[in-house]
Amino acid sequence: MRVISFSIFKGGTGKTTSSVNTAVALARKGKKVLLVDLDQQASATRYLDLDPEQAPSLYDVYMGAKPAALAIKRTKFGVDMLTSNGLLAAIEEALEPGDELKLAEFLTPLKPTYDFILIDTPPGKAMLAFNGLAAADLIIIPASAERMAVDGVADLISHVQRIMWNKFSLSHQELRILFTMYRATTAHSPAIVSNARKIWRDNILSVKIPHSTVFSRSYDAKTPMALLEPKHSGAISYDVFADWLIKYNDGQVPAS
Ligand SMILES: Nc1ncnc2c1ncn2[C@@H]1O[C@H](COP(=O)(O)OP(=O)(O)O)[C@@H](O)[C@H]1O
Ligand SMILES: [Mg+2]
Repeated sequence: MRVISFSIFKGGTGKTTSSVNTAVALARKGKKVLLVDLDQQASATRYLDLDPEQAPSLYDVYMGAKPAALAIKRTKFGVDMLTSNGLLAAIEEALEPGDELKLAEFLTPLKPTYDFILIDTPPGKAMLAFNGLAAADLIIIPASAERMAVDGVADLISHVQRIMWNKFSLSHQELRILFTMYRATTAHSPAIVSNARKIWRDNILSVKIPHSTVFSRSYDAKTPMALLEPKHSGAISYDVFADWLIKYNDGQVPAS
């Protein structure tokens, strides 16, 4: 099994949208999936129509009040969740350098139960974001093909290599870049991807998530793309990405 984090320090590049829609796509293919919401904004929790205020949540796990296994909730979409809420701000304050591996420790006993554990990481360079990175076997970097994505990707990759691999000996971790908000009909998006490909080559996934307003509609309706618009190219792209992950998880190490 693999633990997969959706991470980049920039906000608004599709971390939540990607983690949620990928989790649902995997579950619809019969995989046992746990989604961990590490962001105090609780967007992933709300997207899958759970109430952030309903205990237990990841806060109780970090407080030591509940083992992770007893804090898991079922969603209507076949995905299990460790939910988030604003109380995670207090955890963020309390964590200290050296606490990077806490989430990894909480998740270890859950690994036999799941085919995939997906982590939606918060933006910024604070301790919970690092907890999400340190728990991952595979780091998916959702990069927007709308704006200058390359800086944000380089920043994340250099942090992972310097801190996660060297300081925490996590050099087994792999990185892949998933382009989101891709507009095939403009010159801009293809140029961003081809520039990135010169630098990161095979670490760039060939599947790209198209730009579409349907994604924000899906969030507002608390209904993942696979149910709201299953034939939409946005839903299909996450389905293709889920197939890639399944092959990757099976050790087939498919071409990106
Ligand atoms: N492929 C896409 N096309 C258009 N809008 C998108 C796409 N993916 C996400 N969005 C929208 O962009 C905003 C930021 O996405 P989100 O997944 O919340 O990013 P992050 O978690 O990285 O902050 C949300 O309003 C979301 O609905
Ligand atoms: Mg988010």
